[in-house]
Amino acid sequence: MSTNAGATSNKRWPTIRFNVNGEARRVKVPPMKRLLDVLREDLHLTGTKEGCGEGECGSCSVRLNGELVNSCLIPVMQAEGADIQTVEGLALDGKLHPLQEAFLCHGGAQCGICTPGMLMAAAQLLELNQHPAMPEIREALAGNLCRCTGFIRIFESVAAAVDAESAGSATKLTTEQMHHTR
Ligand code: FES
Ligand code: FES
Repeated sequence: MSTNAGATSNKRWPTIRFNVNGEARRVKVPPMKRLLDVLREDLHLTGTKEGCGEGECGSCSVRLNGELVNSCLIPVMQAEGADIQTVEGLALDGKLHPLQEAFLCHGGAQCGICTPGMLMAAAQLLELNQHPAMPEIREALAGNLCRCTGFIRIFESVAAAVDAESAGSATKLTTEQMHHTR
C-alpha cells in the first residue's frame, strides 16, 4: 500500500519512493532533504532521533538496504527504491523485539535519545552474528554515543537479549525434538 505524505507536498519536487518497515511510502520533498527529517517530519516516524546532526553520534541510525546508516547524512534522494528499517519496525505484532525487552529490563535506556540508534546498531549486529561475544557487542556499538548510561548497561542489555534468544532457540529446539520423537 502506498502512503502519500502530503504535508510538505510541492509540485516542483520529485516523488521519491521507498519502503519503510515493509510498507511502500512516497514523499514529495526537496531531494536533498535529510532522510532523518523525512522520516520524522513527513512520515511522522519520530522514533529516529537527532543527536549531533553531523554523523558522529549514531542516534539517527536506521537500516538502509541492510546497512546501518546515519540518516542525518543521507539525502532522501539516495533512498529512492530502498528498503528502510527504523526503530518502529523492530516490534512485531505489538510485541517488543527481544532487544527492546532487554533494554527495558536491564537499564539500557535512560533519557532515550541514543536508544533507537543503539537498538538499530544492535539489531544489525544480531542480523550478522546471532551469538556475539562482549567484545563484538562493544565494537558493533562503537559508533553510537550515550551521555547517560556509561555504556555498560547498554552492552549488558544486548548480551541479555542474546542470552534470551539463545534460551528461546534451545526451548524451540527441545519442543521440535519432542515432536520428532513422538
Ligand atoms: S544525529 Fe546523525 S549521527 Fe548524530
Ligand atoms: S540514554 Fe541518554 S544518551 Fe543514552
